[in-house]
Order: sequence, then structure tokens, then C-alpha cells
Amino acid sequence: MASAGAMSWWQSQWLRQWHRPLALRDKLLTSPDFQRWASDFPLTQWIARRRAKGLFDLVAGFVYSQVLLACVRLNLFDILHETPQSLAALSSRLSLKPDATERLLNAAIALQLVERRGESYALGSLGAPMVGNTAIAAMVEHHAALYADLRDPVALLRGELSNKALSEYWPYTAYEDLQAVDTQRAAKYSALMSASQPLIAQDILDAYPMQHHKNILDIGGGEGTFLCSVGARHAHLRLGLFDLPVVAQRAQAKFAAHNLQDRAQVFGGSFLHDDLPQGHDLISLVRVLFDHPDEQVLKLLAAVRLALPPQGTLIVAEPMAGAKGAETMGDAYFNFYLMAMGHGRSRTQEQIKILLQKSGFTRIKTVPTRMPLQVQMISASH
Ligand SMILES: C[S@@+](CC[C@H](N)C(=O)[O-])C[C@H]1O[C@@H](n2cnc3c(N)ncnc32)[C@H](O)[C@@H]1O
Repeated sequence: MASAGAMSWWQSQWLRQWHRPLALRDKLLTSPDFQRWASDFPLTQWIARRRAKGLFDLVAGFVYSQVLLACVRLNLFDILHETPQSLAALSSRLSLKPDATERLLNAAIALQLVERRGESYALGSLGAPMVGNTAIAAMVEHHAALYADLRDPVALLRGELSNKALSEYWPYTAYEDLQAVDTQRAAKYSALMSASQPLIAQDILDAYPMQHHKNILDIGGGEGTFLCSVGARHAHLRLGLFDLPVVAQRAQAKFAAHNLQDRAQVFGGSFLHDDLPQGHDLISLVRVLFDHPDEQVLKLLAAVRLALPPQGTLIVAEPMAGAKGAETMGDAYFNFYLMAMGHGRSRTQEQIKILLQKSGFTRIKTVPTRMPLQVQMISASH
């Protein structure tokens, strides 16, 4: 795979030309005298203040996350959705002392989760989208495992982590022993994946028209939540799902509950060890590739290509690195998340396209999505 650090000729020329001015800028920005001057001088004051705030947010970010966790656990957003409430009323509803309630509310106001309206508290601009948002609430809750693994980030980077909460949470990353994926653990991670599907399913369906396909096979399809959305949008499509046997069983039950059992077929197996079912003219890999290292991805893509008919299409949909304006998601969050998980990597579109090319796919194209922060897409032909 092309290294993310490889520089083009133009980039190296640009760097050579700007080397001295950039070195001067670095020198100025690290100088306490310059920092003092910039924060006093009227024309640079706003930049200095914005930078100071940006740096402080990095320092304090984990506190903000825990404030959000407290709001989610206490069901604060749903409570405020009923009606704006006084401090005394909230103190009683949250079973917190008035002082603790006020501290939580002040923190939530500073983070735009809550808003003051006269004597009452109401939903803030970032709290309002949290109402009934089981997807984000489930993510926030499961972060307990991520916090545990990130406690010593240097140990994590050196591969010396003693705590492995995330790899326990996602047991299929222990490739040698897929039996480790027991019913209980499969239920836990599949429920999280299912809860977070609303963040992406409609964006994928809006971005990629499926009218001209007959059969879709969703590989690593979890308990079938994405296919339920596909089925609801495209009544003509036959649905196929492939996942580990314990997860496939859950999908079978979900399709029955959604009255889709006549249109849906479920296949249990490992996409790294078993043949994939043939005869589907559309195959989807939704949030699957980033869980696996390049060798496993190449193995999976080769199996997908074998299973696809000559006119078939593959769509890959997941959060990808390098998303313009959302770099922190792929390059910081998922990058470290997957390192803690012990497998997989957050890839840019280009990196995924190279893997698709290596596996023999053609007509590899970006499919623009509404919210690249949450999901980006690539389509490819057999
Ligand atoms: C991150 S989840 C994504 C689930 C679903 N596509 C979604 O977006 O909600 C990855 C899925 O791949 C499945 N998986 C992992 N390794 C697998 C393997 N070797 N064979 C079949 N499925 C596998 C997991 O069981 C899980 O359901």
C-alpha cells in the first residue's frame, strides 16, 4: 500500500520553497514573548485567543466526554425534552443534590448541551439532537472500554497494553479462534452496531441507488439492521446476509420480526475461511474493512470478487480517514480506537481504492455521501 507519508514532486518543491518561512513561524509560535505580544495586539488577539481555546479543548476533552456520559446516563436530554425545568425540579428528577445538579448543568451549558431560559433549563443546540438518539447514546456508553485502553496511550503505542477491554469487546479480531465469539459477546457488539445504524443507513441508501439490482448480499451484516432499511426502501430486492454463525442467528430472528423472512436468506460462516454465497449482483461491506489489517482485507476482497457475477457491483461504506473537514474522526478517533482494538486501521479513500485495484476490481469510484464524517462510500465493479 502507498505510504500515507509519501510526497509528490510538487509537495517537495512547495516544502523546499516554504522551509525558511515555516521555520520562522514555528520559532515565533513557540516564543513566550511573541505569544504575549500576539494576545495583546488588537489585530492578532482573536487568533491568539482562538488558539488558546483550541489547545485548552484538547487538554480538557476527556472531561467534556464525561459530562456528556453523565447527561446520557441520567437521561437529561429526554427529561428536558418534556419541558424546560427549574433547578429544584431537575435535582429531584436526577436524584442529585442541588449543588451537583447545578455543576452538571453549568458544564452542560458551557458545552452547548443545555441552555438557560430565564429560571429554567432547556435543551441546548447540541443537546437537542441527542433526544431519542440511541445511536450516539450507545456509542457514548460503550466508550468505557475505550477509556480503559487509552489510559496509558504510550503503552498502547508501544504495544505494551496490559488492559485489553476493546479487544474483549470485539472478540472476532482473534482470528485464530472464532469460537471466542460466544453468544453473549456477539449480542453485545451486535446490539451496539444495530443501535448505531441509523447514523449511516439512510445516507448509504440515498447515495447509492439500488433500483437496478436484484439481490444484495451484506457481508459482515451483523444482526441485519442495515438490510431491514434496504428492504423497507427497495421492495423488489432479495436480501442476503453473511456473518459469523452466532451473529447470523440473530439476523434470522430480526428478519422474522420484520416480516422479511420470505425475502431474506441468512448465511453463517467466516468470510476469511469459508466460500461466500454466489448469485448476488450487489455486495455490500458496511463498516467491515476498517476492522481488519490489509492482508485480511485482500483475502476478503478476493472472496467477494469470486462470489460476484461478471456484472456485479461491490459497495464499501464506512467512516474513512482524511475526510475533508472531519479529519479528527478518521485520523484521531478511529485511528486510536482500532489500535486499541488490536486490529484493523482507519483508511483513506485512496488506500481502500488501492486494495480494491490489487484485488482485481475495476471502475472504482467514490460515491459522495451526505455526511462524510459518519460514512464515506466507494463502488467497484467485478
Ligand atoms: C463492525 S461490525 C459491522 C456490522 C454491520 N455491517 C454494521 O455496519 O452495523 C463487523 C461485522 O463483521 C462480522 N465479522 C467479523 N469477522 C468476520 C468473519 N471472519 N466472518 C464473518 N463475519 C465477520 C462481525 O460479526 C460483525 O457483525
